[in-house]
Amino acid sequence: MENGAPNHGVDTGSTITIKGILSLLMANIDETNNKRVISLGMGDPSAYSCFHTTHVAEEAVVDAIQSEKFNGYAPTVGLPQTRRAIAEYLSRDLPYKLSSDDVFVTSGCTQAIDVALAMLARPGANVLLPRPGFPIYELCAGFRNIEVRYFDLLPEKGWEVDLNAIEALADQNTVGLVVINPGNPCGNVYSYEHLKKIAETAKRLRILVIADEVYGHLAFGKNPFVPMGIFGSEVPVLTLGSLSKRWIVPGWRLGWFVTSDPCGAFREPKTIKRIKKYFDILGGPATFIQAAVPHILEQTEEVFFKRTINLLKQASDVCCEKIKEIRCISCPHKPEGSMAVMVKLNLSVLEDISDDIDFCFKLAKEESVIILPGTAVGLKNWLRITFAVDPSFLEEGLRRTKSFYQRHAKQQILRC
Ligand SMILES: *Cc1c(COP(=O)(O)O)cnc(C)c1O
Ligand SMILES: *[C@@H]1O[C@H](CO)[C@@H](O)[C@H](O)[C@H]1NC(C)=O
Repeated sequence: MENGAPNHGVDTGSTITIKGILSLLMANIDETNNKRVISLGMGDPSAYSCFHTTHVAEEAVVDAIQSEKFNGYAPTVGLPQTRRAIAEYLSRDLPYKLSSDDVFVTSGCTQAIDVALAMLARPGANVLLPRPGFPIYELCAGFRNIEVRYFDLLPEKGWEVDLNAIEALADQNTVGLVVINPGNPCGNVYSYEHLKKIAETAKRLRILVIADEVYGHLAFGKNPFVPMGIFGSEVPVLTLGSLSKRWIVPGWRLGWFVTSDPCGAFREPKTIKRIKKYFDILGGPATFIQAAVPHILEQTEEVFFKRTINLLKQASDVCCEKIKEIRCISCPHKPEGSMAVMVKLNLSVLEDISDDIDFCFKLAKEESVIILPGTAVGLKNWLRITFAVDPSFLEEGLRRTKSFYQRHAKQQILRC
């Protein structure tokens, strides 16, 4: 093992999943210390009453069930009214209109990721992924025998894409590049100009852009959310999204795979046939959830969105303030969107912590606080902190992280 560091059962040689590592951390919690468990690890705020979905969404689902019209199978690509509603919802922010045929309803954004990679797979293909990133991409690519190549996101530039790296990595077998905006795990929101540069780079390299916009509209900093599909006439864009994050209903499993491609690269009959065939084997979300989508997308009140944005902004502010008090971690870029932030570990101020994994396992054991080691998202000796939790949990979690630091700090550093 590297440096003889304890790896706490984490197999860093293979693809790590966030859920996998979080369950190992949970198992490491010492119940005898009687502390309530605080998880800043998982991006599912629905566990906290302050992050509650809108009654509009709940009523839409109840109505759909009670109508008794949606107990049967839906078309495998999704109900027509659901596809139309998603096309209209996304078209609000685009310079062209999407049609229902551009939209395929998936079981969450996770399945949309799988569809995108399945559709792009061919012998020898490679895909460019951001680092840090979202491990599901690597996992899906692995099952499809697609090679993954990583380009860095640059913390000192607000986690912008290293465009030079993209140029250097791409070759004739590169099928696409993934852009997650607003960003997970970094909490960044890209400017229009940066997205334009990404689109121009992809166009020059003749690769398409897979735009993971599962956090679409969850932006609370200086940059507004700009969908990549705006550049769909320059370069074909596959837009992936879901209700999970903006509506705080990840368990409803309602997502979409959308060809944001007004020039029609995806409208070739052979391509459409292939996509449709693939959906025949998938089985999307429950029909009544699909049936609720038009009402949810058309009727959700602006105040619900504003409230969520305000909660996330306040939580991220608390998070950044508390982080400043903990000397072993620092935040190079204040989050402007999504639900998580990356912070850098400074191991040189710690006495007996070998790396991010060791930090997180000891923190779980001693303080019953769960934080995701950066290794899980591709960045060793960083941590991903999810701030979309109840503010009292967030404060207590970071207070305990601070006392953990103080117990493990190098003594000469604590004194000065
Ligand atoms: C949460 C998340 C997903 C998965 O979304 P679901 O709708 O829950 O399947 C995909 N991509 C990113 C970046 C995410 O954070
Ligand atoms: C880590 O902390 C030490 C001691 O405070 C400091 O000198 C060093 O610059 C820090 N390193 C980083 C990368 O922040």
